[in-house]
Amino acid sequence: MSGASIIDGKAFAEGLRARVARQVAVLNQKHGLTPGLTVMLVGEDPASQVYVRSKGKQTVEAGMKSDEIRLPADTSHDTVLAKVKALNRNPSVHGILVQLPLPRQVDSTAILNAIEPAKDVDGFHVINAGRLATGQDALVPCTPLGCLLMLKDRLGDLAGAEAVVVGRSNIVGKPMAQLLIKESCTVTVAHSRTRDLPAVCRRADILIAAVGKAEMIKGDWVRPGATVIDVGINRVERDGKARLVGDVDFAGAAKVAGAITPVPGGVGPMTIACLLVNTVTAACRQAGVPVPEV
Ligand code: GUN
Repeated sequence: MSGASIIDGKAFAEGLRARVARQVAVLNQKHGLTPGLTVMLVGEDPASQVYVRSKGKQTVEAGMKSDEIRLPADTSHDTVLAKVKALNRNPSVHGILVQLPLPRQVDSTAILNAIEPAKDVDGFHVINAGRLATGQDALVPCTPLGCLLMLKDRLGDLAGAEAVVVGRSNIVGKPMAQLLIKESCTVTVAHSRTRDLPAVCRRADILIAAVGKAEMIKGDWVRPGATVIDVGINRVERDGKARLVGDVDFAGAAKVAGAITPVPGGVGPMTIACLLVNTVTAACRQAGVPVPEV
């Protein structure tokens, strides 16, 4: 039995993509601006290929220009770097996304930091991370941005809320914590070495699970009425079938939480929708036109 209301990320993302498409149409009409996103994929990782295809399709559906650069798995670091530098110089490319993971011979950190910060629609460049941390205009990583939009839609003002972020990655945990600090939450970042993690989670009005461990967070770790955002996407086998589950034991947590995101259909669809938002933001800033409100 589920007591929590389910946060429908799929529907939310559809609405957001429709708003982005309307903004793009206006930018086109009023300013002759067509935002352009180029995604680079090195190698043949099957999950990355699925993501990249979805990104391209949704970019086009929103009325933007989409390009893909596909390179073989044995491409050298210098070749990837040269491609990024060429995209930095191309004025019709407003957003650059280098799909991760990159092959071992390519230094991911160096490549991400070679992307022009104004075109860094993933928000992974050290300049964007620093801008976010210091409250300056930044391009914000897409997954935490999607989580924040869903939280604000559900809860309104987040000021004063106890937020616990489980996971300290550069892609989700750290930027999520920064966004919640900016919203005046009291933020705890927990991780694999946290003492008594269940007790820390039980403090949360807002619980963000981003650890990458299938169903690690149990129902009795959740404070009654809490809002639970599950960032995990883990492939498991159940009854001989492959299934996707989150980092939260959904059945257990849904009995206790006030609201919870499902997996699939929660955070996942919001990530690409926020990539479209970031591409519009980047294009407007580069063209010197006002950035539309999300
Ligand atoms: N691989 C998995 N998720 C992401 C993402 O959000 N951005 C990039 N660049 N690569 C990824």
